[in-house]
Amino acid sequence: MSTPHLDAEPGQIADTVLLPGDPLRARHIAREFLDGAMEVNTRRNMLGYTGTFRGQRVSVLGSGMGIPSCAIYATELARFHGVKRIVRIGTCGGVGDVALGDILLAQSASTDSRFNRLQFGGHDLSACADFDLLRAAVDAAGQLDIRASVAGVFSTDSFYDGDPHLVERLVRHRIVGVEMESAGLYGLALREGVRALSVLAVSDHLQRGEHMAPEQREQGLSTMVALVLDALAD
Ligand code: ADE
Repeated sequence: MSTPHLDAEPGQIADTVLLPGDPLRARHIAREFLDGAMEVNTRRNMLGYTGTFRGQRVSVLGSGMGIPSCAIYATELARFHGVKRIVRIGTCGGVGDVALGDILLAQSASTDSRFNRLQFGGHDLSACADFDLLRAAVDAAGQLDIRASVAGVFSTDSFYDGDPHLVERLVRHRIVGVEMESAGLYGLALREGVRALSVLAVSDHLQRGEHMAPEQREQGLSTMVALVLDALAD
């Protein structure tokens, strides 16, 4: 049985899924990091693959950009494909005392999106990472000697022309990364009873006007994938 947005057959998706925003990143990760990767989703070109890492099945699927797209895929993974662990791998804008290339393990995700409120009677949900996944990522970073910080991030619905005071509000609340998916992923993971974590490389700095070069982005991605796969391995 395929689902509205995934044409993978039951059993083709592993219970652990890496979720980069860009489907071509999903293909790159599958080719470079997984053994025996097979394509399991092509619907809407949201490419998905399943292979193994150290003998353990792992899938990788593009999520698209923004909470609605990410939530559609994550919900179908959890509800219809029995997925138990979802790790977003992405980039974020940095705020305050972070540098390009820093890796953030998003402990919490604040947001300007109404997505979680829609499901939570209008109340504010604490959108937080799964503690075991977060701890595993912290431990893996230590073992692999990768610098990664546990951080609060902000998921915005508006890449352009959002709250003009956002940066100062984030600094005030010690939030150091801005992206567009984690708060929705964390909320739906709580509701669906699956574990979720977002691991983000700082790709640009919102106050300093700095941007990562393409090779730096590639390096950041590889470091994050190595970290995450190690954290997820038994
Ligand atoms: N992802 C990477 N940089 C971002 C930014 N500045 N805002 C939202 N999402 C991002």
